[in-house]
Amino acid sequence: MTPDSPSDAREPDPAALQAARDAVDALPRRKEQLLPALLAAQHAIGWLPRAAVEHVHRHTRVPVSEVYATATAYSELRLEPPVPGQWHVCTGVACDLAGAPALLAAAPDRTARVDCQFLCALAPVVVDEHERLHGRMTPDDLRARMEAPAASKPARRSRAKR
Ligand code: FES
Repeated sequence: MTPDSPSDAREPDPAALQAARDAVDALPRRKEQLLPALLAAQHAIGWLPRAAVEHVHRHTRVPVSEVYATATAYSELRLEPPVPGQWHVCTGVACDLAGAPALLAAAPDRTARVDCQFLCALAPVVVDEHERLHGRMTPDDLRARMEAPAASKPARRSRAKR
C-alpha cells in the first residue's frame, strides 16, 4: 500500500485513535455504555473506523455485531470518514415534504442525504460540515451559509435554528 492509495484515507490518525481509546477507557466497562463509548470515539476521531468499533466492543463487552448494529442505527454515528465541505440534507418525511429535494438540487456537489435528525418541527433540516444542525432552510439560505466564513469554522454538534 502506498501513502497515496485510497485505502489510506480510511485509516484514522494514530493520535486520534489513541485519544478515542482513552475516552472510551474513561467510561465504566458496562454494556450500557455502548452508545456513550461510540459517541466518545467518534468525537475523538470524527468517525468510527474498525479499530475504534473493536475497541468499544472490547471495552463494553458488547458483541461486535451489536456494536455495528448500533453504529448503523443512529444517523449521528458514521462508519465512513466525513467528506470535507459536505453538508447533509435530511430526507426524512417531514423534511422531504418541507423542501429537502430543492435543497439537494440547490447544491448537488456539496450535499448528501441523511436520515431524520429528530428536529422535524424545524423542517427542512440540514447538517453542516461541522455537524451543526440548521432548520427551516431554503435553497438561498443553504447556498449563503455554505459560502459564509463561519461555515469553515469547526464547532461541536449543536442544534441551530434560523
Ligand atoms: S424528518 Fe428531517 S428532522 Fe425529522
